[in-house]
Amino acid sequence: LLIDASPQSGRKIPDKLFGIFFEEINHAGAGGLWAELVSNRGFEAGGQNTPSNIDPWSVIGSETYITVQTDRTSCFSRNKIALRMEVLCDDGESNTCPAGGVGIYNPGFWGMHIEQGKAYKLSLHIRSMESVNISVSLKSADGSQSLATANIAAAALDLSNWTKLELQLEAKGTNSNSILQLTTSKKGVIWFDQISLMPLDTYKGHGFRKELFSMLAGLKPRFIRFPGGCFVEGEWLRNAFRWRESIGPWEERPGHFGDVWMYWTDDGLGYFEFLQLAEDLGASPVWVVNNGVSHTDQVDTSSILPFVQDTLDSIEFARGEPDSKWGSVRAAMGHHEPFELKYIAIGNEDCGKKNYRGNYLKFYHAIKAAYPDIQLISNCDGSVTKLDHPADIYDFHIYTSANDMFSRVHQFDHTTRSSNGPKAFVSEYAVTGKDAGTGSLLAALAEAGFLIGLEMNSDVVEMASYAPLFVNVNDRRWNPDAIVFNSWQQYGTPSYWMQHFFKESSGAILHPSVLQTNSSSVIASAITWSGTEDSSSYLKIKIVNFGSDTVDLKITVSGLPNAVNPIGSTKTVLTSDGLMDENSFTEPQKVVPLQSILQNAGRDMAVTLGPHSFTSLDLAL
Ligand code: AHR
Repeated sequence: LLIDASPQSGRKIPDKLFGIFFEEINHAGAGGLWAELVSNRGFEAGGQNTPSNIDPWSVIGSETYITVQTDRTSCFSRNKIALRMEVLCDDGESNTCPAGGVGIYNPGFWGMHIEQGKAYKLSLHIRSMESVNISVSLKSADGSQSLATANIAAAALDLSNWTKLELQLEAKGTNSNSILQLTTSKKGVIWFDQISLMPLDTYKGHGFRKELFSMLAGLKPRFIRFPGGCFVEGEWLRNAFRWRESIGPWEERPGHFGDVWMYWTDDGLGYFEFLQLAEDLGASPVWVVNNGVSHTDQVDTSSILPFVQDTLDSIEFARGEPDSKWGSVRAAMGHHEPFELKYIAIGNEDCGKKNYRGNYLKFYHAIKAAYPDIQLISNCDGSVTKLDHPADIYDFHIYTSANDMFSRVHQFDHTTRSSNGPKAFVSEYAVTGKDAGTGSLLAALAEAGFLIGLEMNSDVVEMASYAPLFVNVNDRRWNPDAIVFNSWQQYGTPSYWMQHFFKESSGAILHPSVLQTNSSSVIASAITWSGTEDSSSYLKIKIVNFGSDTVDLKITVSGLPNAVNPIGSTKTVLTSDGLMDENSFTEPQKVVPLQSILQNAGRDMAVTLGPHSFTSLDLAL
């Protein structure tokens, strides 16, 4: 492998080449990154109809003691459903309430994870005509372990009006399959609405589950595309993500049923929280907007202007001054300064649809006129044929087998180079199907080859992100995914760890490299990059051996202005005994990068690449 590391040979890689794509799929947000523990907190999951679907809430006590139904008496005008609970027992005669009382409980998202010593904020709205006491408890789902208790005294309630109550629960035990229970032993009618239980210990108090957040931060993503994917489109337009309904006080958000991935979300993780997440990650937000096209229905271009205005309003919400109409709503939510929104994707995978081009152009021209600095992303692939419409960037999605993915190292080799033509955004890529299982080494190696190809073609490729990012194992809608979790555990698939090899690439210098080998299963690239916090700089050589034979490679580096410092030079390898090996909750570290000291670091090195391996040689300069 010959590498020309001279400064004049290098070409700068785009600053935002590698980022992440967050879609509300597989309970990535609701029951995932968003730390809310109550599922269906406003009883709205059945939509605005009554009776509504209160699932996964359940009733404690038989119908002799209690009846529960939904009605439309909530104090929140955008989400009118409330839960009416009529307690029949304790009637002063024969109908005595059972020990422990009657009421309702919520199991969260397949069990709440409650941890000893941690505090949880319970917020709820209650209305009752009678003076009732309510017991609040966190307990294990099997009832054997009490984790926290509190009482709501009748005196705390404003009789016949809605009262908002907030209390803090301190856990005195740990259980990852817990429930929140509200009970009483007093006859009467009680309404509940908007019941939330949030751990106090979230990232910066911003509501993000800390361990999952830190897995994202570990990738050093330069951008975050959100909130979909198909989630943005909806199976039907009426079920698409609507940013306006997802902002403001959480109690007032109606929530919605994502009909592509088939689950309800309370929209606690709304448009504001996505922008906050991007800021917390130091990543540029890429806001994917619905352009009036879903999987099934479409708005005619002649009627699209309200949709366009809706997007302009969303941009003002993110970027407007605090005294602007929508900027003031953002400021009222606690973010006075504008967010740095510079990318808007107009639709998702809609290029072939009848109204796309017409709608796209309306969005494009209106956004460009109001915000000329915003980069606009088209859904149409411009890698082979020139786009027939203006765009700064075009989307490119690829889900395929391992062999095909690996061969796509050359995907953009023949794309026309032009100084002002749109660049590619590979906003979704992954090996899928039997090669991937639920996240295999094979998939990761093929993707590594593809990403090296993107680095080498980064004069025409601007950005790239793996998809999907998250899966809650209790609701796998898509396989594989980068980060796997349940209520209390998480691990990265090999594809997650493979991305760690590319986290220094964005903004680095790519150097020409020539592989003199007969093997078509080896792919390599070389970059130099400098740390931002110190003056350290490195030559990073990445090599994938996709084949089943060991490869001995001689590496010669020319043109390096600095000497190689053997101290601080490392070798990192991602491999495993079996090609289909995966990580799991029991073996989360089975396929992870292993770092060692690079013994022979220098301008001339011999390196042995194990079969099916991905190696990074990091030479300290
Ligand atoms: O990543 C999963 C889905 O794949 C996305 O929602 C969609 O854009 C693509 O078809």
